Amino acid sequence: MQEISWQAVPLQKEHDRQAFRCGSPALDTYLHKQARQDSEKRVAAVFVLVQPPEPRILGYYTLSASTIPAHEVPPELARKLPRYPQLPVTLLGRLAVDQKHKGTGLGQFMLMDALHRSLRAAAGIAAMAVVVDAKDAEAAAFYQHFGFIPLNLTASRLFLPMATISKLLD
Ligand SMILES: CC(C)(COP(=O)(O)OP(=O)(O)OC[C@H]1O[C@@H](n2cnc3c(N)ncnc32)[C@H](O)[C@@H]1OP(=O)(O)O)[C@@H](O)C(=O)NCCC(=O)NCCS
Repeated sequence: MQEISWQAVPLQKEHDRQAFRCGSPALDTYLHKQARQDSEKRVAAVFVLVQPPEPRILGYYTLSASTIPAHEVPPELARKLPRYPQLPVTLLGRLAVDQKHKGTGLGQFMLMDALHRSLRAAAGIAAMAVVVDAKDAEAAAFYQHFGFIPLNLTASRLFLPMATISKLLD
């Protein structure tokens, strides 16, 4: 059995961003070139999966505050919500695992970490769901495996209500 000593921690300059390869050039380039700046400018909170004290990055994900138009929420859920035009959500903007470690549970570990973090944050700054933008059908299938629901207007945007996350993590 694999020893679980992974930790998802905020990206720091001592982490080795350049060696990361997940198979998606856009997600690799983001970590290599943009993530530090987004983090410093507070555009996105970037968390990297590491095994301290190793600087190597095994995976990463990003979280940001966002909103979705209420009319994108499936009607059965929208009916139970107050009628505001926009709803507050937490955006899980990117999530990727280094290709050497795919299929070993790191994606799931990071997703659960991101959901925990989002749930804790929502107690202080409300967010009614976690929303993801899946880059392709395979990524969408990963999120659907964990119960994410496609939003009305586009199947590439999926969401998981915070109430469901709370039950899931209880
Ligand atoms: C998608 C990705 C994050 C999955 O990470 P991973 O570490 O390989 O996945 P895990 O080993 O944690 O898998 C956990 C569970 O999800 C399932 N799963 C993994 N990828 C899946 C997919 N594409 N579709 C459906 N289920 C998937 C696994 O079968 C496993 O299920 P089980 O626990 O019931 O056996 C990874 O493949 C990746 O980084 N891909 C490139 C970047 C990407 O597409 N990111 C998505 C967001 S844009």
